[in-house]
Amino acid sequence: MNFNNKMTTLEEFIIQRQLDFPFASGELSNLLRDIGFAAKVVHREVNKAGLVDILGNFGAMNVQGEEVKKLDVYANEHFIASLRAGRECCGVASEENDDFIAFTDANSRNSHYVVLMDPLDGSSNIDVNVSIGTIFSIYRRRSKQGDLARSEDFLQRGTEQVAAGYVIYGSSTMLVYTTGKGVNGFTLDPSIGEFCLSNTNIRTPELGKVYSVNQGYYSKFPEGIRRFIDFCVEDDDATKRPWSMRYIGSMVADIHRNLIKGGMFMYPPTTDAPNGKLRLLYECNPIAFIVEQAGGMATDGYRRILDIEPTELHQRSPVYLGSRNQVEKASEFLQTYEARAKVGVKA
Ligand code: AHG
Ligand code: MN
Ligand code: MN
Repeated sequence: MNFNNKMTTLEEFIIQRQLDFPFASGELSNLLRDIGFAAKVVHREVNKAGLVDILGNFGAMNVQGEEVKKLDVYANEHFIASLRAGRECCGVASEENDDFIAFTDANSRNSHYVVLMDPLDGSSNIDVNVSIGTIFSIYRRRSKQGDLARSEDFLQRGTEQVAAGYVIYGSSTMLVYTTGKGVNGFTLDPSIGEFCLSNTNIRTPELGKVYSVNQGYYSKFPEGIRRFIDFCVEDDDATKRPWSMRYIGSMVADIHRNLIKGGMFMYPPTTDAPNGKLRLLYECNPIAFIVEQAGGMATDGYRRILDIEPTELHQRSPVYLGSRNQVEKASEFLQTYEARAKVGVKA
């Protein structure tokens, strides 16, 4: 056996990298470790979901007016309970809760961080054995240490994130995260129950050849996006078009594939949803941070996602992210056709 080839676990990696961080108190390391541990428990539940009565609709509606599935509830409660027990953050905001939760015990109140999360992303795929995920975003609090967390702690621009990541429960379970010094991926080895470093310093290809969008909404997209989709499917040798269309309906799974193989993901505005569907604080921002750290680009068609000043916990934003060539092209189409419409040019 070659002992020099020892694998690195997530916990070892977090500790090794702790000194890279300006406030290297260990608090952030512990917080990431708590999230990694909660992800293992959710992995276990996801994997046995077909065997126990945890599949199917919970019956309630979440704050977005969407149906809540049982696993959403489980993941939400479990992540919050783990973060509460870990006492390394002063509050959590989740897709599944109307308002943020401020932890009241003294240790949590004295901690420096808040966490925002989508505990279970792609929930419509739970019943059909398709990949789902968890997304998280971590900020340093703005309120005073010792106080209860306040909304200003959560309503921060994406550029202020100190760490962000996702877990994909797919053919294997992986945790991918960044603290602003590149992106690293860890694959869960279920036989030993550890996330092991598998993808070091992930870089996304600059030239993508895959686009991911719910093309069923074609007629509801702005004209620039319809023309961009026409461009994606056009025959052109120089840019290797037509590009392949891949859309799973779990953002985490679509992003993960495109991050590794190159490609772009978008959720544009529609006539029914003028700000798109995805939530800025716990879907767009953490994924944008990862994509940028991997060398890609993330915009709302006009601005960098990470520069958007949030005003509401559950605010939505259109999003275009992934390989640079494609994200730039989508914005170009969007802006050109918007400018044409303004001066009254007919399509
Ligand atoms: P969630 O399950 O957290 O509500 O998120 C689902 C999101 C995202 O994962 C996915 O890309 C998108 O919704 C799919 O929406 P459409 O069905 O409208 O394409
Ligand atoms: Mn989601
Ligand atoms: Mn969700």
